[in-house]
Amino acid sequence: MGREMRINSSTTVIVTGGSKGIGKGIAKAFAAKGAQVHTVSRSRPEGIDDEMLNTGASSHRFWPVDLTTYEGAKGFFDAFSSEVGTPDVLINNAGQLTGGLLEEQPPEKIFSMLQVNLTTLILLTRFFLPAMLERRSGKIVNNASVSGKMFFPCASTYAASKAGVVGFTESLKQELRDTGVSTLLLITAGVKTEMYDEIHDLYGGHLDLDFLKSIPVAEWSEKVLEAIESDQDTLWPPGSSRVGVNLAHHLPGVFEGFISKKFHR
Ligand SMILES: NC(=O)c1ccc[n+]([C@@H]2O[C@H](COP(=O)([O-])OP(=O)(O)OC[C@H]3O[C@@H](n4cnc5c(N)ncnc54)[C@H](OP(=O)(O)O)[C@@H]3O)[C@@H](O)[C@H]2O)c1
Repeated sequence: MGREMRINSSTTVIVTGGSKGIGKGIAKAFAAKGAQVHTVSRSRPEGIDDEMLNTGASSHRFWPVDLTTYEGAKGFFDAFSSEVGTPDVLINNAGQLTGGLLEEQPPEKIFSMLQVNLTTLILLTRFFLPAMLERRSGKIVNNASVSGKMFFPCASTYAASKAGVVGFTESLKQELRDTGVSTLLLITAGVKTEMYDEIHDLYGGHLDLDFLKSIPVAEWSEKVLEAIESDQDTLWPPGSSRVGVNLAHHLPGVFEGFISKKFHR
């Protein structure tokens, strides 16, 4: 924990994957505080400028970028730095989902998911960090998942990406102590988005998903905003998801016994 942050009209935030789902929810939570909001994704959602401005953003700019490529990430960083400057908050949220038995997962989807979920998240952090350090202020928010903390079948490649986000963020948190720059790790559980709905298609053939629960985007986005403002380093999921994460950590054998009963090849 370090300095508390006041989000207002002088706050500049980048939200990757801000076109829909959790990213859009977080972008709107910033907009409601009057922030200068920048959203990034491949496709521009219709009406996003109006939606952010009507919510209260002092400005909004959408950046069309494919974050699966090095050129996409570097090109965005170069353009943003020269046209806008250094963000106060970088929210690495863009993500893709893979799932199912490993041998059934399309290799090109595994590659693209790992690029967006992990490699680009690290790269954008690496690109923006030096200027934040020089200014001695900044917040880097990395959206992981309960899948980065508790491992179940059908989630092998997605879990690998999210466990990578957890390891990267935990390590960086320690490097940044007393620099004025800090991290927030989101251990996100079920949030009702398009990705959440995909879980049933991708995992449901081999895993009984009756334990899955979701909360609305706005509810999780508000919690993220509060965690940023109060400079927390980790945001845990609510309710039974938190219990599941604790069980997997402290009693991995019991967790594996529970989840294996829900799995069939
Ligand atoms: N929903 C959940 O239950 C849940 C649970 C745990 C963790 N999470 C994590 O939360 C984050 C957001 O998930 P969500 O549920 O909001 O998913 P979503 O509704 O599918 O939104 C994903 C966002 O990422 C963007 N994106 C995907 N590939 C991209 C690429 N190559 N380049 C640029 N942007 C890209 C998408 O925009 P375009 O497609 O237009 O590029 C979209 O804005 C992800 O990191 C996810 O892993 C979600």
